Amino acid sequence: MGVKIEDIVRKIGSLPPLPTIAMKLISLLNNPDTKVSDLTEIISKDQALTADILKIVNSPFYGLRKEIVSISQAINYLGFMNLKSLLLALNTKKFIQSGDLKDVILWKHSLSTGLFAKYIGEKIKVYNPEELFVTGLLHDIGKTVLRRKVAHVYDPIIDEAYSAGRNFEGLEKAVLGFTHSDVGMLLVQEWNLGERMKTVIFYHHHPELATEYNQETAVVYLADQLSNFNGFGFYRDFNISYNDAMMSVLGLNEEMIGSFNEEYKDKIEEEIGVFL
Ligand SMILES: [Fe+2]
Ligand SMILES: [Fe+2]
Repeated sequence: MGVKIEDIVRKIGSLPPLPTIAMKLISLLNNPDTKVSDLTEIISKDQALTADILKIVNSPFYGLRKEIVSISQAINYLGFMNLKSLLLALNTKKFIQSGDLKDVILWKHSLSTGLFAKYIGEKIKVYNPEELFVTGLLHDIGKTVLRRKVAHVYDPIIDEAYSAGRNFEGLEKAVLGFTHSDVGMLLVQEWNLGERMKTVIFYHHHPELATEYNQETAVVYLADQLSNFNGFGFYRDFNISYNDAMMSVLGLNEEMIGSFNEEYKDKIEEEIGVFL
């Protein structure tokens, strides 16, 4: 799949690791024998993480009537799967949004793509909508990595792609020899987030090429399109590219996508506010 990690590392240096605490928690969450108390013990030692989790669980995003005041309550309410995506979301936020305006825009774009992916997944009943949320959130993570590592080369690519409406991946290939999808896929591999997420991120601009997990890939492709269509990103794209493969794999047509967008766009804009 794509270029080799050594080729990328040679050009931009090593890929950033997932913070140790997140790594530890995610491996615990992947283990069915883990108890709530194991997780509580680790999370409680990190005050900032504790505060972030409680803040989001009590936000309008979850719409709870009664306030959750402890981490063990929060874990019991969320369940392991949702806690895992929340942890990844918080880490992704920290990772993406630690810089300048371009980072803020990238975060907004990532978040709205994640939310669209989750709701499309729920609508058409594809696999696990929570994992789709995280996959959407991480779909352009390669762009953030490239900005961290080689901003002097990558920022001009972003500017040119958006101001001149040029093909992003074409420019990346011409200048770097690989794309943000290659980098994102390798990062997800390094972070042990699983084959499905890795495949979807690699093919997120070309859902027709995915031979595995093609429904999930089509969902993230469409979510990315809708995010740009609504202006949640660097630019507003007034055209949705209705990729044929995507439409047939999802069983949707233009009209259905249009009314889905109408139904969800305001809700998503509001929810972005919770995480910003
Ligand atoms: Fe992308
Ligand atoms: Fe994107």
